[in-house]
Amino acid sequence: MSVSVSEFGRLPSGEAVLRYTITNASGASASLLNYGATWQTMFVPNRKDELVDVVLGYDTIDGYLKNTMYLGATVGRVANRIKNARFTLNGTEYKLAANLGTSCLHGGNVGYDKKIWQAQIDGDSVFFSLTSPDGDEGFPGELSVVVIYSLGEDNALSIRYLINTDQDTIQNMTNHAYFNLAGQRSTVLEQTLQIDADQFTRIDELTIPTGEIVPVRNTPLDFTKAKPLGRDINVTVEHIDTAGGFDHNFVLNHPKGGVERVATAVDPIGGVAMDVYTDQPGVQLFTPPDFSYMIGKGGEPYGIRPAFCLETQHFADAMNNPHFPSIVLRAGEVFSSETIYRFRVEK
Ligand code: GAL
Repeated sequence: MSVSVSEFGRLPSGEAVLRYTITNASGASASLLNYGATWQTMFVPNRKDELVDVVLGYDTIDGYLKNTMYLGATVGRVANRIKNARFTLNGTEYKLAANLGTSCLHGGNVGYDKKIWQAQIDGDSVFFSLTSPDGDEGFPGELSVVVIYSLGEDNALSIRYLINTDQDTIQNMTNHAYFNLAGQRSTVLEQTLQIDADQFTRIDELTIPTGEIVPVRNTPLDFTKAKPLGRDINVTVEHIDTAGGFDHNFVLNHPKGGVERVATAVDPIGGVAMDVYTDQPGVQLFTPPDFSYMIGKGGEPYGIRPAFCLETQHFADAMNNPHFPSIVLRAGEVFSSETIYRFRVEK
């Protein structure tokens, strides 16, 4: 295992953006940027033993500066939408940056995806840390965040979060990697997905949870048995298809506490498989319809249905739905969480 560092580019201010690459003994590697604590590449072997880069991204800092879709970024302080960009905690109402219509999306105008993080190599891991000041995008309390990426010899990338605050606040962070297990250019419609979730959180026309938790059975969201992503992606069902594809939070079945396998995706052609492990209660499945406008790695545009995201997190808009698992972090408490994306070859 080795970790190397190189300059990836420079911000308009002249500040250097660094790229950290962790490589294991078999040659699999993960590259990470201190801009947005971003997961930039993941090279893993396919059935022909070729190394395939299974996460979408850009070759230049310029791409990331225009990255409106959060490719590979660490998202915070609160992932997904907060209805009407406001919430109440300890009797006080907080108004947040509304950067998507009336909602606060992925932390606001300048979320953690757009910040330079402090980075440090420790053994086979890269530690990224960030201090988010009291009042950042409207959120109360100074939040101290550490995100630790580690690559195992088993081609598993672990992402750990250690978070604390000096005042009661809310937090719900995730990584926004877009996966294509065949590499950078094909569609993911043939790739299969299984999610260990019997229920999902229903959304309204603004993709905001209505508060209802409903069964996946007899809906396009039934991934309890593996099926190709493309099979039901265009099936229209009232109250479900507001997103033009999948953009839904699954309520994971796993009992809270442990880091357990919750989802598996497979590219039947190249044979790359990915198992997702987490201790989080939910996972957001997002399948962007069309990235043809986006120039990705290799200087070529991404196309139609180019990737899928499996963003492990608490449920969207948890503060405005008190029956959802809580995202409150109390002063002095430490929030700790882990998600692992493990890659292997299916023969
Ligand atoms: C996802 C979200 C989508 C869209 C996307 C932006 O997490 O569920 O609705 O906002 O991020 O990249």
